Amino acid sequence: MIRICFVCLGNICRSPMAEFIMKDQVKKINLENKYYITSRATSYEEIENDMYIYAKEKLNEKNIPYTKHISKRLEKKDYDKYDYFICMEDSNIKNALKIFKEDSQNKIIKLLDKDIDDPWYTGNFEKTFNDLIEGIDNLIIKLNNKS
Ligand code: 4NP
Repeated sequence: MIRICFVCLGNICRSPMAEFIMKDQVKKINLENKYYITSRATSYEEIENDMYIYAKEKLNEKNIPYTKHISKRLEKKDYDKYDYFICMEDSNIKNALKIFKEDSQNKIIKLLDKDIDDPWYTGNFEKTFNDLIEGIDNLIIKLNNKS
């Protein structure tokens, strides 16, 4: 079982979208039992809130199923629970490192080489969705080649 935790600032747009996109992708290739997938925030801003309405609308438009989401903040004790903390932008990595204090097992990575824009600020959920798809497709190929 590969344990994946997507990480963004608020855990109401990018990381839950990534969580549900990846769950859908691995289900489609019958690998859902190989992965445990979740998501977390680095900030306290949106804790306990559901996914943002426009993030849900984008997933609806793309026929990607999701369940009720409750935003949770990343905690130090999470470090041992997951194999990868997959961040959306450099500031998420910096903030995750502040929470964990160190990344001795190199678990913290970025989904794409570039930062994935925060649609909470840009309003461009289509661009964020396309970046997430690109990153998750590549991630699944990499992880499937590993094992
Ligand atoms: P996310 O977007 O990091 O993609 O979930 C954000 C949503 C809300 C806030 C920040 C980022 N906020 O500060 O309220």
